[in-house]
Amino acid sequence: MTEPALDLVIAALEKIRQTNNHLPRASRAVLARLQTGTVQDGKARLQAARDGALVSNKTVLLRAIRERVRACTKCAHLACSRTQTVFGVGNPDADLMFIGEAPGVDEDKQGEPFVGRAGQLLTKILKAMNFAREDVYIANILKCRPDTPPGTFGNRVPTPMEMQTCRPYLVEQIEIIQPEVLVALGAVAVEGLLGMRVTMRELRGRWHAYNGIPLMITYHPAYLLRNQAPSEKRKVWEDMLQVLERLERPITERQRNYFL
Ligand code: URA
Repeated sequence: MTEPALDLVIAALEKIRQTNNHLPRASRAVLARLQTGTVQDGKARLQAARDGALVSNKTVLLRAIRERVRACTKCAHLACSRTQTVFGVGNPDADLMFIGEAPGVDEDKQGEPFVGRAGQLLTKILKAMNFAREDVYIANILKCRPDTPPGTFGNRVPTPMEMQTCRPYLVEQIEIIQPEVLVALGAVAVEGLLGMRVTMRELRGRWHAYNGIPLMITYHPAYLLRNQAPSEKRKVWEDMLQVLERLERPITERQRNYFL
């Protein structure tokens, strides 16, 4: 098939996906594969050859979505206010994927999720689990920092409309990475992912599922920064112990006793 003809097929499949909830329709992963297929013989292959490395299929698929996110203007106000989009970071073959809310001011500056104070705490939690950031995958519901009025401080919670608009990118990331376990950090991440608004007290510490993938819901690290009580840290740690058990990772006695 010639490239213009393939482009037409991809555009038609995209349209069916966006407008039709009934089968048959192409999965996002198939669409991403088709899209990268169009550039594989050209740019992407050349880049891979330049890198002198074998790029995993998942990396190529994620790169294609990252490019679409980079150019996204679906939320015009966020496209105007962002420094850059914040796509996701980590191992495309990760067994474990963390989902946060949205980039904050630090993430908007650096283009990487969870690099500010809450992010540093997440990195510590990962370390306590015997993971490096490079071992897992970290992404947010929103890929742009929610805008705030000029001259104001702090971050804003994403609106339901912003989450609904951006969610398909995260859905594609999950479809490609296919982690064994997902962790949603905080109520906003849960709302963005599952579309339900419930209190964390009702949800955390138990297994849920997203598209058949086991989902652990726990507090956002920013909550732990606001509430430094050891009992709250222990709750998050107990949730992470459940994650380690589910992933069949070894757990030392010392790890079991953290924050007791
Ligand atoms: N909080 C989030 O939910 N995500 C980030 O990337 C940073 C802070």
